[in-house]
Amino acid sequence: MSRSAHPAGPRHADVLPEGHYTAPPADLNVLDPKVWSRTVERDERGVATVGGLSVTDLAEEFGTPAYFLDESDFRARCRAWAEAFGKDADVFYAGKAFLSRAVVRWLQEEGLNLDVCSGGELTTALSAGMPAERIAFHGNNKSESEIRTAVEAGVGRIVLDSFQEIVRVAHIAQSLGKRQRVQIRVTVGVEAHTHEFIATAHEDQKFGIALAGGQAAEAVRRALKLDGLELIGIHSHIGSQIFDMAGFEVSARRVVQLLAEVRDEHGVELPEIDLGGGLGIAYTSEDDPREPHEIAKALNEIVARECEAAGLRTPRISVEPGRAIVGPTAFTLYEVGTVKPLEGLRTYVSVDGGMSDNIRTALYDAEYSVSLVSRTSDAAPMLTRVVGKHCESGDIVVRDAFLPSDLAPGDLIAVPATGAYCRSMASNYNHALRPPVVAVRDGEARVIVRRETEEDLLRLDVG
Ligand SMILES: Cc1ncc(COP(=O)(O)O)c(C=O)c1O
Repeated sequence: MSRSAHPAGPRHADVLPEGHYTAPPADLNVLDPKVWSRTVERDERGVATVGGLSVTDLAEEFGTPAYFLDESDFRARCRAWAEAFGKDADVFYAGKAFLSRAVVRWLQEEGLNLDVCSGGELTTALSAGMPAERIAFHGNNKSESEIRTAVEAGVGRIVLDSFQEIVRVAHIAQSLGKRQRVQIRVTVGVEAHTHEFIATAHEDQKFGIALAGGQAAEAVRRALKLDGLELIGIHSHIGSQIFDMAGFEVSARRVVQLLAEVRDEHGVELPEIDLGGGLGIAYTSEDDPREPHEIAKALNEIVARECEAAGLRTPRISVEPGRAIVGPTAFTLYEVGTVKPLEGLRTYVSVDGGMSDNIRTALYDAEYSVSLVSRTSDAAPMLTRVVGKHCESGDIVVRDAFLPSDLAPGDLIAVPATGAYCRSMASNYNHALRPPVVAVRDGEARVIVRRETEEDLLRLDVG
């Protein structure tokens, strides 16, 4: 996405520095519903509220930094995905985006399945009562004990990622007297991110088994021969933060082509395909994500068309949205600690968190927006960079954003759309205490993941 410098705004510079920003919004006080969760609004005092609770009260009760998760929005998004795909398809929430036991219960109540990619995620899911048959187990290097736990628990599918794993899972299943349902994850030769999709260099990565060179066909050959495995389908995941369906189109075509080859060679029509996750969300007002029903329609049409052309029965489709469900439902609330204008450049706003609670900006150059939420302001916009408190100059939360020029220490600012890959990727860098996740719904707030304490840190440090 290209965004350009704009000659308006900050109080400290006549000419704006290079950066990834557009014009300041017409009114900095507006909380754009595109990027904020559904129940966020301002009350009559101008304080932002979520689920009917003001951020000032929430900050007082739970402290900052903290993630606030809009539970009714999360549930509504689950329902929208389930309804869009209907009874003939399966929606697996990708737990890597954010997983907790409360989330697992919400998923069950809203009729979603769950994709996990580690023993820890599997344990969390099982401990919160997710029926094992509704769990898909992913990962490019699952340990023997993880596989054993998954097979023993009776997970609905294990997604095989390598030739070694085909044998490993078969052996473990057989030793337990079971036949494990599996899919094979293939790399289809497309890697898609945001607006573009790239058709080169995609096989040069650690996930999956390449369609190219017949490797995926060989994997199918081997899996079909092993008594411990029941091969139910092919899996493909092509990227993240995707808005354009063109990458899925290529992926579906290539997966269906493999299904046709399998039918021709083995006389078997594999009954399922999984097209993975990766659907994009709005991090800034410039992003235009698709709705679940549009995505479902597009994917169903692509698969039906490709199957018809190949003379195949349409397989059962599954998808694995993570970010598209949880991403928009949470924001991170910070308190401003220092405001440092750099003449001719921008103003650095330091908050009480940083790269330990949101690594995405440093890791992927991700874009976010940010707003003053503890009050409104009529002051002119100033160009800021919101940074954390870590000992790292790359400790940036929001690279370029406009905030009111009367911003001061003690103000609360919030970064929307931090539900996905923020708490789940949070770290203890500088021995930071990872923030809590507080679920808010209908005027009630409850901690679903508590704030870490210094005792938590010291408990692991055995001296
Ligand atoms: C196999 C698989 N499925 C689903 C997802 C979820 O992606 P997203 O959260 O972008 O929807 C990922 C993300 O890495 C993945 O690797």
